[in-house]
Parts: sequence; C-alpha cells; structure tokens
Amino acid sequence: MNKISVIIPEKIGKISPEIYGHFTEHIGGVFYDGLWVGEESSVPNIKGFRKDLIDLLRKIKPPVIRWPGGCFAETYNWRDGIGPREKRPTTVNWWYNSDKKLETNQVGTHEFVEFCRLVGAEPYFAANVSSIPPLETRNWIEYCNFPEDSTSLAALRGENGAAEPFNISYWGIGNENWGGGGNMTPDDYCTQYRKVGTIVTSLDEQLYLIACGPNNNDLDWTRRFFEKWRDIAAGHPTDTQINGYSIHYYCHNDHDPLTFSRDEWYDNLSRAAYMETIIKQQSAVIETYAPDVKLIIDEWGNWHPDGSGPSNGENLFEQQSTMRDALVAAITLNIFNKHCDKIAMANVAQLVNNLHSLFLASGDKLTVTPNYYVFDMFKGHQDGQAVKTIVDSQKISFLDEGREEETSLIDCSASIKNNLLTLTITNSHLYKAQEVAIDFLGNRINSIKRYLELKADDPHHFNTFEEPDRISPEERTAKYTGSGADMKITLPAASVTLLELELSS
Ligand code: AHR
Repeated sequence: MNKISVIIPEKIGKISPEIYGHFTEHIGGVFYDGLWVGEESSVPNIKGFRKDLIDLLRKIKPPVIRWPGGCFAETYNWRDGIGPREKRPTTVNWWYNSDKKLETNQVGTHEFVEFCRLVGAEPYFAANVSSIPPLETRNWIEYCNFPEDSTSLAALRGENGAAEPFNISYWGIGNENWGGGGNMTPDDYCTQYRKVGTIVTSLDEQLYLIACGPNNNDLDWTRRFFEKWRDIAAGHPTDTQINGYSIHYYCHNDHDPLTFSRDEWYDNLSRAAYMETIIKQQSAVIETYAPDVKLIIDEWGNWHPDGSGPSNGENLFEQQSTMRDALVAAITLNIFNKHCDKIAMANVAQLVNNLHSLFLASGDKLTVTPNYYVFDMFKGHQDGQAVKTIVDSQKISFLDEGREEETSLIDCSASIKNNLLTLTITNSHLYKAQEVAIDFLGNRINSIKRYLELKADDPHHFNTFEEPDRISPEERTAKYTGSGADMKITLPAASVTLLELELSS
C-alpha cells in the first residue's frame, strides 16, 4: 500500500502567502474582455473590472499580482497609462507581431492598483529595463510611492485621482532579459540591473527588488550573473540590493491540450515535478554567492499549443484546462510548500484567458477552470508552517519520444496553522484509484474538519461557459481520531485531495 508519513515536529519554514500569487499581462484576452470590460459595459463590473471574477478571486485570497508583463513590460511606458482614459494613447503592444492587437492603455497604474485592492492583493510591478532609461523606472516609483504633493510627480498622481501613495513594494527589474527583454548576456544584464538598482535603492531602501534570473534551469545564467554581481560589489561597494531572483519555468509541450494520450499525461506531470530540481539546483548556486536572496518563480504553468480556449485562437495563448492542468498546478504548489524556505513568491501564468488560467471569460460569460479549484483547496497553506512529509509509493513509467521515463504516483505537502493541519495530496495515476495509509508522527489528530476531492469522470474533461460545473471539488465525510496510527483513504484516479485535520494541541 502507498504510504504518507507526516512528521509534525519537523518544520520546514513558513509558507509565504505570496507563493500563491498570480500574473496578468497586457496580452491577448487577459485584460481587454478578460479582466477589464470598462465602466460603461453591460457586463456587471466594479470600476470597469468584471464583478463575478473579482468575487471569485477574492475567495481564494490572492496575495500578490504581477503586472503589466511579461514581455509587454519591456516596451511599456507607464506614462501612457495615467491621466484621463479617453486621452490615453493607443500604442503598439510588444505582442503585435503575433496577434496584431493594439494597446489602448485603458488599464494603467491607477486601474491596476484599484483591481488589486478590490481582490485584496498586493501589486507587483515589472519595470522596463531594455527600452526606457533607468530614470523612468525611478520616476514611476516616485509617482507611485511619494507622499501627497511632495514632488511634482506625486502631485500629478493626486491630479489623476490618487492623493494617497500607492506604496508599491515589489518591483521587478526587467522581464526575461535573456530573451524578449533585450537578449542580454547575464553579464550585460547584471550591469543593467546594477544601474537601475542603484538609483532605485537611492530613492527608497525599503523596496523589494527582483532581479531577472534564467529561463528554466539555466545554471550558467545564474552563476555568471552572481559572479559578475560579486565582482562589481567587491570593486565598488554600494547599497544596491537584490531581494528576489526570478525564474520562469513553463511545462512546454506540443500535445493537444484536450485529447492528450497516456504518455503525454505523464510526460506533462513529470515536467511539473522537475520544478523541484530547478528549485534545489538554482538555490544551491544562489546560496554560494548571495545567501539572503530568495527565489521567485514569477511565471509558471502549462504551455500547450494555442487555440483550445473559447476564443478559438483569437486570444493569444488562451488554452483550456483539464484535470491534467489541475494536477500540474497541485504538483507545483506542493513543491513550493515543501521548499518554502527557499521561495519567497510565485506567480502562475496567467490569470484569465491565457496559459494555465484560473478563469476563462468573454462578453457576459465566465467560467472557472479546474486550476481555480486547486488554488482554492490549497489556500489554507498560506502563512502555515510547512512540515516534513515522506511519500512511499511506486513510480509510473511512460515513453517520452521513445525513451522510457518515470514520474511519481503520489505527491503531497502539509502545513500547520492555528492547530489545523492542511494536507494536500495528488494521485497522478490516469486510470486507477490508489489506497494510501497516512501516518501522523508527533501529534494526535482530533478530527477531520474538511475532506475535499477534485476529480473528473474523464481526466480530459474541462469546464465551459455552457457547463461551468463539470469539474468542481466534492465534499467527502470521514471520521478519524488517532496518532501514529494509519489513516486509510482512497485517492480517486487523476485527482487532488485536501484534508484539513484538527490537531489535539
Ligand atoms: O506568459 C507569456 C509570456 O511568456 C510572457 O510574456 C513572457 O515573460 C514569457 O515568455
């Protein structure tokens, strides 16, 4: 029988809520028609943003939302997105070559901050490093954060309707500067980071600055960036800081998002499991150079071939999400919890009408995807103390381009908050339910407070505007009291399970 041991006394660290963060870019249908319908729309809205989406998003406690890109950030001029909306310029979006859509700038700094406040999240701004001068990033920060009327930019913010500062803490210095953000070498980028970081730090030392790390697990980028960082610092000590170091990792694949085969299912889940290797290897390198810098995974998720979403390819990168995507989300979030001592933030890409989305929306229609429910089931981990878990189960083999590979059958993570143990478990088996015995070491379980399962009659299923409840979690009831003893439960095939258990003390 499969076995999970929850070692309650072995604490890993506190799970920062920001691990459950989101990402929204001006791309395809994310903003226009996704989040933003405009104040005059017949679609119920709050200050121009879809009301139903706001209500649902609030429920899963989004801690932080990254904006305005992605690649878009690297040609964004924040000045285009302030002032009266009817006077804002129409500009060419970074993604113009792919979808010929223009940017109307109807959502800018003020609107995005408003959206974050409506859903209870902190904004995380990604600044343009490759196509505007560093002073403009400093100016944007001054515009957002300086006290009322203290400078001309702060007064301009007041004229634009926000006398009180926005107090934006999280600033990303560039996006994918190894690629769309200027095609830089790690050495070039380090020099650029240093320039921007220095003048930004001189403005405010309390900001949380995030440097651009590699694509996937490119250890060479990380080594070279930090070597250059160390060398410059040795020669020219300054107060320039790096708080977070961001990595982007997508589970890219060329499988049909809806009709994937058995091998494609396991191949995709094994790519999600690779996140653990990335975290271990990247943080080992970072620790040798800059032990205080934390990892940020500010873009992650599945990236399937385009066109499976409700817009039939109209919205760039929009894709449907099946139970395969839900499992990828749950496997990834379990990894983040287990390595919460190394990760400060993560942002799933992207919130609506895009890759690995939690919502799909068009006109007056909206549905949540199975990914939404994973975030809902995992929200109890936010701010919890992660505790060690050991899984003893077989591996499953599959073929990846003719090579035999294997991936785990069962994964989990556990955390404790207010005497409640949250345990989230995945069963990756495509067809077979799995019996699992769970051993709780070091404390007694008083009762099962909540037991939820996310599964589908067929793992290829997904939610649509017409059938929005095809996949949603089901409540189960079970009784258990004990300690050290095995609790036995059955995990349905291709499923995610949540157990909330009351501890005795
Ligand atoms: O999420 C879509 C794109 O993927 C982002 O703009 C970019 O940062 C990444 O390559």
